[in-house]
Amino acid sequence: MKAPPGTFGLRIASGTQLLLERPGGVSYPIHPLWLRERCRDAASMDPHTQQRWADPSDFDLALQIVSVAQPAVGSFRVKFSDGHEATFTAAEILEEAALAPNSHDCPPPQLWDGSLKELPRVTWRADASESERLTWLEIFLSFGFVIFEEVPTAPATVLEVGAAFGFTRETNFGALFDVRSTPNATDLAYTSLSLDPHTDNPYRAPVPGIQLLHCLVNETRGGLSTLVDGFAVAEALRAQDPAAFAVLSTTPVRFKYIDADTELTASAPPIELDVSGALKAIHFSPRLDYVPLFAPERLDAYFRARREFDHRLRAPDFEIRFLLKTGDLVMFDNCRLLHGRTGFDPAEGLRHLQGAYIDIDGPRSLYRVLRRRRASGASVRRSA
Ligand SMILES: [Fe+2]
Repeated sequence: MKAPPGTFGLRIASGTQLLLERPGGVSYPIHPLWLRERCRDAASMDPHTQQRWADPSDFDLALQIVSVAQPAVGSFRVKFSDGHEATFTAAEILEEAALAPNSHDCPPPQLWDGSLKELPRVTWRADASESERLTWLEIFLSFGFVIFEEVPTAPATVLEVGAAFGFTRETNFGALFDVRSTPNATDLAYTSLSLDPHTDNPYRAPVPGIQLLHCLVNETRGGLSTLVDGFAVAEALRAQDPAAFAVLSTTPVRFKYIDADTELTASAPPIELDVSGALKAIHFSPRLDYVPLFAPERLDAYFRARREFDHRLRAPDFEIRFLLKTGDLVMFDNCRLLHGRTGFDPAEGLRHLQGAYIDIDGPRSLYRVLRRRRASGASVRRSA
């Protein structure tokens, strides 16, 4: 049966080929090894761990499909030339086939700029239902941030909120860090100065993926929090100044952090791409970046490109500003968003935030688990 236009379909051809029909009319046979690696029967895979028994690199490179049949709608029985036979559901093959090469099956980023008027704010509840948490995660994964309101202001609550989404990433600043102006600060974050948009800790490998900032008290009129969608700015640069984009996605920049007990250094391009050319991460902290001593022409191009990127990052077109009130907590993707703050006068009163990091993959994992549970719950209800 042919697939409706715009969807993926499967068709048996000549009894020994399973054809994948892609949207747009393109179709090709599914590679026998691709399919063989995906056998999920107990002889191929440990049903408990869902890990393969065999190393698929040992399969015959000339493996063929000897026969393929459709014993029931949505089910394919395949016999391979190594003698193995397996049953596949159409749904599982099509689900894999529909994934873009680097898709990890989560809500894709919805890029935003300074015109974003309605900030994604939700009311925090420690005992939120799974469906509420799924909604929060959808917001976070789409926008790259979410603001929780009414978070209890007991010290260290930021760790509880972080633990609801992933594992704490402890650093030399501790499991949590206090952001308030202090004399002899070890980081400019701990002063009352304004901070331009930056990503945190590009000098670590890996970089802390997600940051949480919880406002325990803010009595100042300044000290507005700022966020910029680095992916939106990078895509604008790619469209408007492809040469600058190319330079920033191929120049390794060294980032450094030094204090009495710590010396961290890591290299990354300011705009990091994945193998398919899609944006993977932004590494940008103009107070900490050190480009290697390349030839003058290459450095000319780099300095021009960095200025282009930096000016866009600081432009109001892309930036949003908001006051973190007492009890607000912003959780943001430190690989996509840049954050900063306006300066404030510490004489006006206290401004005290507590921050923490969690790993980048926690919310994605939780999103998939909650979605899976919702799907199985729905099917249980339907069959009841
Ligand atoms: Fe920061």
